[in-house]
Amino acid sequence: MSIACEPLIQSDVALAGRTWFRLGGSAQNFCAPNDVAELRNALHWARSKNVPVRVLGGGANLLVRDGSLGGLVISLSQPAFCGVSFDGDRVKVGAGVDLMHLSRDCSYDGLAGLECLAGIPGTVGGAIAMNAGGRFGSIGDSVERVRLIDRAGVIVDRDVSQMCFAYRQSALEDRIVLEAVLKLRQEPVDEVKRRYQDNWRFKKDSQPLAAHSAGCIFKNPEGDVAGRLIDRAGLKGFSRGRARVSEIHGNFIVADEGATASDVLEVLEYVRETVLKKTGVRLETEIDVW
Ligand code: EPU
Repeated sequence: MSIACEPLIQSDVALAGRTWFRLGGSAQNFCAPNDVAELRNALHWARSKNVPVRVLGGGANLLVRDGSLGGLVISLSQPAFCGVSFDGDRVKVGAGVDLMHLSRDCSYDGLAGLECLAGIPGTVGGAIAMNAGGRFGSIGDSVERVRLIDRAGVIVDRDVSQMCFAYRQSALEDRIVLEAVLKLRQEPVDEVKRRYQDNWRFKKDSQPLAAHSAGCIFKNPEGDVAGRLIDRAGLKGFSRGRARVSEIHGNFIVADEGATASDVLEVLEYVRETVLKKTGVRLETEIDVW
């Protein structure tokens, strides 16, 4: 049986340029559906071939291994998934919407809630999946409800309590975010803007934002900070190949020109082992590794 979507699936699509690390291999099968019907067809295609589906968001929290990646990579980057509509203090946003732009635009409009996400890259879908955030708050704090699609193509709505947002996690399971309604607060523009700018400045001053990286590599362990543990273990500047632990923030691995995913993984595992030996704490990876 021929499947309607098959021609939309592209072969051997390089992923490096779609990630913030700017490295890694290619997807054997890649699809950027134009609408939900095409997305369903793509999911159906993957099920019929019995291959895994991975959803590519902004590629900000992702390391793609070198070589060829099996399965299907789906990107919700087409306009149908990138809508933004405001209704008072609520905003309905598509999964493909750029988080950095959204947090800035809302903050500069006096809509409070997302200023805690200043400078955090990625898409709304990816951010919801991992409850992205930092020391000032997380996206889950502003979510009212989320529309999801499961691997069988069934759409379900979930309210915030059903999403079970916790530190860098949500109850998404294998569903894919289609859109979300965020509940913000109308506050004086100057105040929201100032908080946004303060948060941005904090990030700029403490993180290696000019380098290629995937942000923080490890989750903060209960009661401690991964960056501090790595720093105290004397690992800043440690390198393998063209990847190294940032001298600015211990929880960042930066990839210099020519770095491979293997270089990054060697640094990552060395850091994990060394911190375990020195402190007894086993750091858990925050980034996705494909
Ligand atoms: N610290 C060190 N050495 C370092 C890094 C940090 O001693 O090399 C100390 C700092 O001095 C500070 C403490 O550790 O006292 C916490 O550091 P920071 O404020 O940078 O926060 P973090 O816990 O390391 C978290 C998020 C970041 C987010 C920042 C700011 C995690 C794993 N990281 O970092 O998120 O940008 O707060 O909001 O939760 C990301 O997830 O990719 C990310 C960068």
